[in-house]
Order: sequence, then C-alpha cells, then structure tokens
Amino acid sequence: MEFRILGPLEAVDGGSPVAVGGPKPRALLAALLLRPGAVVSTDRLVTAVWGATPPRDAIGALRAYVSRLRVALPGERLRWQAPGYALDVAEGELDATAFTQLLGLARERATVADHQRAVDLFDAALALWRGDALVEFDAADIDADGQLARLADLRLSAIQERAEAMLALGRGREVVADLTGLVDHHPDREALSALLMRALYASDRQADALAVYRALRHRLVEELGVEPSDATREVHRKVLEQDPELAPADRAPPSNLPRRGTVLVGRDRAVAQVAGALQTAPLVTLVGVGGVGKTRLAGEVAGRELHRFSDGAWLCELAPLTDGGSVAHAVAVALRLQQRHGATIEQTVVEYLAHRSLLLVLDNCEHVLDAAARLAVSVVAHCPGVVVLATSREPLGVAGEQIWPVPPLPLPAATTLFVQRARATRPDFDPDREPSGTIAEICLRLDGLPLGIELAAARTRAMSAAEIASRLDDGHLLAHGPAPR
Ligand SMILES: Nc1ncnc2c1ncn2[C@@H]1O[C@H](COP(=O)(O)OP(=O)(O)OP(=O)(O)O)[C@@H](O)[C@H]1O
Ligand SMILES: [Mg+2]
Repeated sequence: MEFRILGPLEAVDGGSPVAVGGPKPRALLAALLLRPGAVVSTDRLVTAVWGATPPRDAIGALRAYVSRLRVALPGERLRWQAPGYALDVAEGELDATAFTQLLGLARERATVADHQRAVDLFDAALALWRGDALVEFDAADIDADGQLARLADLRLSAIQERAEAMLALGRGREVVADLTGLVDHHPDREALSALLMRALYASDRQADALAVYRALRHRLVEELGVEPSDATREVHRKVLEQDPELAPADRAPPSNLPRRGTVLVGRDRAVAQVAGALQTAPLVTLVGVGGVGKTRLAGEVAGRELHRFSDGAWLCELAPLTDGGSVAHAVAVALRLQQRHGATIEQTVVEYLAHRSLLLVLDNCEHVLDAAARLAVSVVAHCPGVVVLATSREPLGVAGEQIWPVPPLPLPAATTLFVQRARATRPDFDPDREPSGTIAEICLRLDGLPLGIELAAARTRAMSAAEIASRLDDGHLLAHGPAPR
C-alpha cells in the first residue's frame, strides 16, 4: 500500500489507485495521513471533514466514513483509540516520510562535502513532490497543527540546499532559473536572494547579481524598515569585490592518482606529446627499459589530462600481480567496483566503463602482457569514452595501440635530477664542490635512467660524488638505496 500526500491525495495498492470515496472520506484520510500512526481526536477529524459547520450528528456520520475507509484500505490499519482515530502506516508507505528520510541522507552527504551524492539525494527527495501537498483541501480544516506548512518549508529548504551543493560543485549556472522562480514566490526569504546572487555571479552575471540585491534591499527597507542581514550584505560585498570564494572553479574529477613528493624533471615535451597522443588514440603504451620513468610520466600525463574525463583518471598497478588471471580484478579494485551478480569480473568492468568518460592507467603490464592486452582490447572496443594509458617494458601488441617509447633523461635533466635527490638527503650538497664533470659522468654511466640516478644520489649522504663514480661498477652500490616516488 502506498499513500501519497506530496501533491493531490493518492492511495495506491499494487500499482492501482484505491477508491477512497468522495471528498469527505478523502478529507478524513488526509487528516489522518498528516499525523501517521498518531491519534487524531474526533473533534479535529470533524473539522477536517466539515470545516466550521458540522452537521448535527457529526460523530455518527464520521463513524460511517471511518467504516468506509476501513473497507477501502486493506489490513487493520485504521484503529479507534480515545479520543479519536489513528492510521497505521508502515515503513516506506508514505511519500512524506520517504521525503524526510532522503532529505536527511542528502544533508549528511552535504555536511561531509560529498556534494555530488548530496545533489543526487536531494533530487530523489524532490522528485516525490507532484505539486503542493494535499492541494485540493482547505489547509485550515485538515491541518490543525501546521504539518502542511512544515512540509512546504522542508521542500523549499531542500531546493535551497540542493542549490548550495550545486554551487559548491561549480554548477551555479544550472540553478539560476530555479532560484529566480523561488525568489519571485518567496520574496521574504533573504537566503534565497543571497543564493541567487551567488549563482548569478558564478554565471558571470555580476550586474544581475547586484540588481537582485538592490531589489531585495528596496523591499526590506520600504516594507519593513530594515536592512538586509549581515550574511546577505557579505555576499553583496563579495560580488562587488569579485571575491574568488564566490565562484568555486569546477571541481577536479575523481581519481586515485598518487600525490608526488618530488618535481618532475625534464619531461615537459614528453608530457605534452603523450597528452596529444591520448587525444587521438584510444590506447597509448609508454614503452621503455626498467627505471626509465614510464610510470612517473604516465602519472604526470594522467594528472594533467584529468579535467578531460568527467569520471576521472584511475591508476591500476599491475606490478604486484602474480598471474594474468587477476588483471580484470585489479582494475575492478582500482575502480572500486563490485563484481555484478551473474557476470564475470571482466564483464563487470567493461559494462561499468561502457558509459564513462574516464582515463584508465594500466601500470607495469609487462609480466601480465596477454591478459592486459585482452582487457585493453575489449575496453577499447566497448567503451568509447575511455582512454587507456599503459606502461610496459614491451608493447601490448594489439591493434590500435599507439606506442610511445620513453627515452632516458638527457644529460642536463639527469644532472638536475641527481642534484635534487642529493639535496633531499643532504641539504648542503653543493655540486660545485664536486670535481668538475663527476656528476655528468655518473649520469652517463647510469644511461640517464632516473631510477639509477636516484639511487646513486641517495649515496651522497655518506660518500662524495667522486667516490660514488669510482664505485659504480660495485654491484652493491645501487642495491639498497631508497627509491623516492
Ligand atoms: N622525469 C623525472 N623526474 C623526476 N623523477 C623521475 C622522473 N622520471 C622518473 N623519476 C623517478 O625515477 C624512479 C623510476 O621511475 P619509474 O618508476 O617511473 O620507472 P619505470 O619506467 O616505470 O620503471 P619500471 O619499468 O621498473 O616500472 C621513480 O622514483 C620516479 O619517481
Ligand atoms: Mg613502472
């Protein structure tokens, strides 16, 4: 059974409407539904049904309507309890209760700044409204204690808080029309005007935002003799000063890309070129020897291109896998997916990606090459909005793959990297105090490979550069150094 009061009164059983009877039993039902499960006194119910002019035997007539409702509504839900009647409504049967529950969940998300989820929940809550609550009745008769006003107020708050969340998402432009309509209907709600000002400002309509303030202030001063509140004046001041706080930039899409503690050295051109390749090819593989910087380059490119993918950029590390069978599983974990019942993990991943705009980074494919290639092929085939960026010591070798060989660092960048890393272990490291050419020699002997350079530089904590150079052929030198990411 479903009862709907957020609009005209409706009672629905198994999808079809329940005939409750004429206006009088409907008014009785409406009054009971406004206080679900609570006893409503017969006096109040009489007023709900007949208003201020009840007939002589109102109590008897009321009883007849109660019997009629009992027949119409399945189950023993309409019970007598002095001094009146109560209608029992189970969990999920009344739209108004569902509305307040969804609103509560939306507010919870909004307080933890999960604005997107908050907007979704506000939308679900507001979708339950089909018009003004119980519009066909006289509120003064059926609603002695202001439940309808309370519901209308919550609805307005929901729209307002949804707009707040949209503003936080950088989507102020999309709420201007809604807010304009609301301000017209509720000119006294200052908070709505303040929100509209912010939404207009966020849509590059500063002059319109100021006009809203002028209209609001005019009304308040003329009609009530008061100035706008501090909060509204603050918004006005920020509009005048073009305070950047007012128009948050679009939020970055989600991602699990790690934050790097070190700067990227000497790869500006490479980053731009790989980013360019991703615009044209659905699968780009960064190929190169171990330690040349493939993973690092992929991470930088993904961070730079993140804004192009509304569903974000996701790094999936395949290095820890021991066999190819778990590639799809690793991708699902990176994307935080649960395997769909009745589907393989690979199907689950591909179905999920089919309608996303997303950059998938498959890192270190070399030891699970076949499985990674298979997954990449089906993602490319079925997910038009997904771009795959792979790193691997060997190409995946599939159709449509754009191979991008990662070269070693050129000497100037390699020495810069060495000095930076040396200073990370020894802040007073001064390259000019080392014999000239020693650092360059170390970098050359390490073939310009960033991993080797990092390990060698870490040794400056205990050795001079000359000593490091002389011991490069010593297998232990680079074995234990830390490899800062
Ligand atoms: N251009 C760079 N600037 C600064 N640090 C770098 C650069 N390139 C690589 N590094 C660092 O060098 C180390 C090795 O790089 P990375 O892990 O990207 O190599 P890789 O090619 O992915 O190696 P593997 O084949 O073993 O996975 C990392 O610590 C990385 O942060
Ligand atoms: Mg790597």
